[in-house]
Amino acid sequence: MIDSLPLSPKQIQSIVESKQARISCWTGAVRSGKTIASLLAFLMAVAEAPDSGLVLCVGRTLQTIERNILDPLQDRTIFGTVADHVHHTRGATTAVILGRTVHLIGASDARAEGRIRGATVYLAYVDEATLVPESFWNQLLARLSVPGARLLATTNPDSPAHWLRKKFILRAAELDLATWHFTLDDNPGLDPAYVANLKAEYVGLWYKRFIQGLWVMADGAIFDAFDETRHVVPTLPAIRRYLAAGIDYGTTNPTHAVMLGLGDDNRLYVTSEWRYDSRIQLGSLSPVEYSKRIRAWLAKQPEQPTWVVVDPAARDFREQLRADGRPTRPGNNSVIEGIRTMSSLFATDKLKIHASCTHLLDEIPGYTWDPDKALLGEDAPIKLDDHGIDASRYAIFTTRRLWRPYVLAA
Ligand SMILES: Nc1ncnc2c1ncn2[C@@H]1O[C@H](COP(=O)(O)OP(=O)(O)OP(=O)(O)O)[C@@H](O)[C@H]1O
Ligand SMILES: [Mg+2]
Repeated sequence: MIDSLPLSPKQIQSIVESKQARISCWTGAVRSGKTIASLLAFLMAVAEAPDSGLVLCVGRTLQTIERNILDPLQDRTIFGTVADHVHHTRGATTAVILGRTVHLIGASDARAEGRIRGATVYLAYVDEATLVPESFWNQLLARLSVPGARLLATTNPDSPAHWLRKKFILRAAELDLATWHFTLDDNPGLDPAYVANLKAEYVGLWYKRFIQGLWVMADGAIFDAFDETRHVVPTLPAIRRYLAAGIDYGTTNPTHAVMLGLGDDNRLYVTSEWRYDSRIQLGSLSPVEYSKRIRAWLAKQPEQPTWVVVDPAARDFREQLRADGRPTRPGNNSVIEGIRTMSSLFATDKLKIHASCTHLLDEIPGYTWDPDKALLGEDAPIKLDDHGIDASRYAIFTTRRLWRPYVLAA
């Protein structure tokens, strides 16, 4: 089937062994060949599927299912002529694979469970299993009631206390579950230069999980790559474009704004900050007053930013800025992905902060993972003194499409 892609021994082993197991779980490092091995196992299972029972592909959203499952399946360089037997129209909730209708199910929240209730399922493929709600996973297992029914799943590692590890992977023997741990060495197709780049991009917690493929707890300082001597600059280079002002809005908590610029050295710079802390300054401000003061700060900047990105929860404040002639965008509040982006930028020296941003700089070393949440298998920062960080995260993560071509290509 795949002459152009000789499989690694681990890939072959997993494909063979998965035929015998009710649940198959490919875990480990990014880019380590889990998806390709599991998709081959899936294609073989689809080809042999009896008429009774549904075939499902599950992911966080329809878009991730298309990107992570259907796009590779339709790639001729990987699956040869089999790829011609995978049909899907973007946006449709079914695909036809080897003549068989496959239902595509986005399972981003607990409500997703309702979508499969009552169904009889023969085969399910789950992409990024740790990101699927536990209730959905349990319902899915209950639906796999046809004799010989199977569930195939891939995932990167998460917290050691994550339900998928504690309740399933660690109980492999009892549950008729087969699992394989992939590392970058299990993918023979990776170019050493690409591997070196990958390794530089992931740091700390993410290096352990996504490069080493380990289930490790989020523990200690979040920005552990941050180093004052490298990341704080007394002078700025020429700024090619001010991408965004990021604003974290608080009424009892401080309100913090930062300016984000793209330097002519293809690095990101937090060039300036503004902060008002009602706890230590003269009482709380109204949205009208905040809008006035922040607009005055913006007016003093060397250039106006492309976007003003605001805490998505701060509707009244956004409305006020709009009424005052400053339309805004809601910040993308995917906390963990935003933090990971910032970590990786620090690690690769692509994000620097001007020395005048003293409040933001004060927050960074103390920004830590919440140990109580970690014990429950959740990654979450302690919500304390994170206002400058949140403002920066909104600005940086929301504008990622604007800076990526410059910052990551350089
Ligand atoms: N045996 C192989 N030979 C050559 N290239 C391979 C092989 N297996 C996988 N690849 C390629 O390597 C890349 C990563 O593989 P794959 O998508 O299976 O990794 P993954 O473990 O699922 O990664 P992620 O965790 O990022 O989803 C893909 O471009 C894939 O086509
Ligand atoms: Mg994958």
